[in-house]
Amino acid sequence: MKVISFINMKGGVAKTTLAVNVADCLVRRKHASVLCVDVDPQFNATQCLMTPDAYVDHRQQNGCTIVDVFDRQSRTRVGVVEGTTQTEPRTLESITPVRIKDRFDLLPGSLDLYRLEMAPGQGRENRLRLYLETVQDDYDYVIIDTPPTPSVWMTSALIASDHYVIPVRPDPISLTGIDLLRSIVREMAENFGLSTKCAGVVLTVVEQNTRVFDNAKENLRSNDFWKEKLFEKFLVKRTQVARQQLDQILILDGDNSEVKLGLAQITEELLNRIETHDE
Ligand SMILES: Nc1ncnc2c1ncn2[C@@H]1O[C@H](COP(=O)(O)OP(=O)(O)OP(=O)(O)O)[C@@H](O)[C@H]1O
Ligand SMILES: [Mg+2]
Repeated sequence: MKVISFINMKGGVAKTTLAVNVADCLVRRKHASVLCVDVDPQFNATQCLMTPDAYVDHRQQNGCTIVDVFDRQSRTRVGVVEGTTQTEPRTLESITPVRIKDRFDLLPGSLDLYRLEMAPGQGRENRLRLYLETVQDDYDYVIIDTPPTPSVWMTSALIASDHYVIPVRPDPISLTGIDLLRSIVREMAENFGLSTKCAGVVLTVVEQNTRVFDNAKENLRSNDFWKEKLFEKFLVKRTQVARQQLDQILILDGDNSEVKLGLAQITEELLNRIETHDE
């Protein structure tokens, strides 16, 4: 099982779009068995994969979310009929993801992560890694979508990951963010003894034949560290990708052959880069 996170502290760079669609592409084009984990309190990956009704049903039936991975507090509930009862947190082994389709599971996100972040709790950073150890034999790949803020959730994703991918928009301001990200990951690596490796930088929401896109490629190719990391393939900008997202229409379900091909090539390149790391 390989664990891959999509990370960038810059918001809106298509982390979620790439995470859910690469996961879907691994399932459909590579016949892989994939778990997608949504560690972003905004839970956009979940919104891309579950209808609002399905999510509400899931929560009403006390279905598992990412909060179960991090929350270890027992709770006291006072009910009219049953009186005072104590609910213990779920064990990691009993956390069950949602089946989205054949070979594609999701551990849904939850807004409750915001609340949890305010509560005290030591050692949360390691919980996701420990949870993923319990599903080690169930999946070929785990794809983690992360929030755009340095937080315990982002750290936990990096600790749990074998590799991380940096999606970035090709504008100058977004590009400056990747050096900052690199230094933060380096610092985390020292603090937590991370073994995660950068699988590369994917340019996203790209408008081809523009000066900004050419400059972005030039900029990265002239940098000693990033030139090796830059994916040859990129995600082109198409408004229909954004439009269809909230109707749970994934890129491979759409009819834009250019975006579909781009996604398949990015996924292929990702697998090649990961294999090279592992040699
Ligand atoms: N290829 C594309 N073409 C056009 N719009 C896109 C494309 N990919 C993503 N978008 C849109 O860009 C916006 C940001 O994408 P997304 O939510 O995936 O980014 P993110 O990095 O996960 O954001 P956040 O930091 O808030 O988590 C969304 O509205 C999304 O629909
Ligand atoms: Mg996102």
